[in-house]
Amino acid sequence: MESEKPILSILGGTGKEGPGLAMRWAKAGYTIIIGSRQAEKARNTANEINQMIGGNQVQGLENVAAARQADICVLTVVHSAHREVIDSLHDALQGKILVDATARVDYRKPLPPAPPAAARLAQDWLGENVQVVAAFQTAPSSALRDLDSPMPSDILVCSDHLEAAEKILKLAQDGGMNAYFAGGLDNAIVAEGLTALLINLNKHYHVKNASIHISGIPGDGRISL
Ligand SMILES: NC(=O)c1ccc[n+]([C@@H]2O[C@H](COP(=O)([O-])OP(=O)(O)OC[C@H]3O[C@@H](n4cnc5c(N)ncnc54)[C@H](OP(=O)(O)O)[C@@H]3O)[C@@H](O)[C@H]2O)c1
Repeated sequence: MESEKPILSILGGTGKEGPGLAMRWAKAGYTIIIGSRQAEKARNTANEINQMIGGNQVQGLENVAAARQADICVLTVVHSAHREVIDSLHDALQGKILVDATARVDYRKPLPPAPPAAARLAQDWLGENVQVVAAFQTAPSSALRDLDSPMPSDILVCSDHLEAAEKILKLAQDGGMNAYFAGGLDNAIVAEGLTALLINLNKHYHVKNASIHISGIPGDGRISL
């Protein structure tokens, strides 16, 4: 039943990465809240997404209000604002799952970041009452928005909270992506580093969607607990 689906907020969902995720999940029947520092900007993005998918289940709110209304929050703010935004959402995120898509890579000089992973830092800052899951670092924004083509890149999901990770695997799969559990939160530093490699590949080969594909695992990648 639709009502059993969690409400999803995409915080900083007005940029390049957030709207593609929102489109995929709205199309799959999820209720979505776009978060922004400015409620009006969030509403505008939500309206654009509703128009693109021919629906009305996407709304826009300021980030804190968006986080409070959601069951699962997905963080897609520019990486330089990672700490500032997480601090501002500390109270609103308590008791929830936070999916951190952050890859601290500079597009102009793409190098892998040093540990700890951004998502590990988020977990440390937010405390154990928030279940942080790292995911979508390998999902190029332009491919996310192309709903008519298969998603070229597989998704790596890292978390110390297996039940939360399983929910995000299902979310990714509902959004038309292959997703795999890749271990604890500290492993997310590798997913961030892969983003640097994918940007280098895009630049060298003059493409937009250099991607990774996991082989050797039968089935759809779901974990069994
Ligand atoms: N783009 C990709 O292909 C891609 C792929 C994988 C992972 N990622 C990761 O996804 C995240 C978002 O990437 P993006 O390309 O979507 O970034 P972006 O378009 O540059 O920015 C996303 C949003 O961040 C918010 N923001 C900007 N400055 C801020 C500040 N000082 N304080 C608070 N919020 C601020 C803005 O939202 P408001 O102005 O509405 O508040 C903006 O729309 C990054 O961590 C990136 O590493 C991106």
